[in-house]
Amino acid sequence: MICMTSSISHVELPHSISLLEQMASKSIEKGPFTYVHSGAGNESTLRANEAAFEDWYIVPQYLNDVSFRDTSATLLGTTFPSSFALAPIGVQSIFHPEGELASARAAAACGVPFIASTLSSYPLEDIAANLGNTPRWYQLYWSNDEEMAISMVRRAEKAGYSAIVITIDTSLLGNRERDLNNRYSPLKLGKGAANYLHDPVFQGRFASPPSADDPEVIKNIVDIIFNPSLTWENLKTIKEHTKLPILLKGILHEEDARKALHHGVDGIIVSNHGGRQLDGCISSLEALPSIAEIVQGKIPVLLDSGIRRGSDVVKAKALGADVVLLGRPFIYGLAVAGEQGVEHVLRNMINDIDVTLALSGFASMKEVNSSLIRRKK
Ligand code: FNR
Repeated sequence: MICMTSSISHVELPHSISLLEQMASKSIEKGPFTYVHSGAGNESTLRANEAAFEDWYIVPQYLNDVSFRDTSATLLGTTFPSSFALAPIGVQSIFHPEGELASARAAAACGVPFIASTLSSYPLEDIAANLGNTPRWYQLYWSNDEEMAISMVRRAEKAGYSAIVITIDTSLLGNRERDLNNRYSPLKLGKGAANYLHDPVFQGRFASPPSADDPEVIKNIVDIIFNPSLTWENLKTIKEHTKLPILLKGILHEEDARKALHHGVDGIIVSNHGGRQLDGCISSLEALPSIAEIVQGKIPVLLDSGIRRGSDVVKAKALGADVVLLGRPFIYGLAVAGEQGVEHVLRNMINDIDVTLALSGFASMKEVNSSLIRRKK
């Protein structure tokens, strides 16, 4: 892998995500770049995610005093500087050797909440150690091996993660044609194995410490990551094992929003996994308004998939999202310039949200509502 980390300064990093994406395509090899960049199937959902934001205009109102602005967000009792957190993204060492440790440090520098993936390249404890006091949540792929799932939740609690995000759209891995054509699978390469290899329950199953270099160990992990038999009933089990708030990531249908409320979850994330799972499914932004209508502010509603700039965040907020998650853009920063690249992306996003808010005529993100936007005819 080619890494240009130390030679790139903030000054040289571009301010648009599309340029950063181009740089990333030259900074890392084809396999990892395609892995982050592509989607499932013919990528219609991937395209729809970004396009959906263009279906809406912001209609600003002026001559409001916007000299002091409050862009902060409060979620699950925690306040942070801007209305976004980092989406859980696994296998980050394929983009930069320091992987999640670099992105965690950048999140900490900006106070942006971090969601650590089950499939991280570094153990969740090491990621936590790089986050300082920054809010952190743990994303759980509820393993078909329940003992493993529960052990990971325990470790996340111990390491100071304050919520569990259960991803529900990954009963199986999506059909990612480009990755299949490239014969590239970071999971089979053991790049997302760290949380398993460091798990006492997992370790207890081997005579000697399990290693990412052992194909049998990696096969064992790949076989237990996902759980196609998971149902709403399983939520009861996790609730018996943790007092942490539980968010469900991957809600797209109004009925699932209703069920989430019925089952007492603490938050939902409207997401299609960045178009990486079910191709042809609805874009997150399109799914948002009717879900927000059902939830009626009873629990937080988050959104990801397609967030690229400040105006996207403001539009999502106007359509009912409390907070959004930033996905691919920070990985492009990581690929190009490690921690510094991620920090660059986060600071640009914080600034872009602030400018968009002011130019929309609002002094506080909390006041943004549907009067701010209009659907294109
Ligand atoms: C992801 N995503 C993801 N989601 C999750 O719940 N657990 C995970 O381990 C991962 N891993 C992952 C790897 C890569 C390379 C990508 C691009 C995405 C999905 C992620 O959390 C988020 O839903 C999407 O990235 C949002 O779409 P955009 O904004 O990146 O297009």
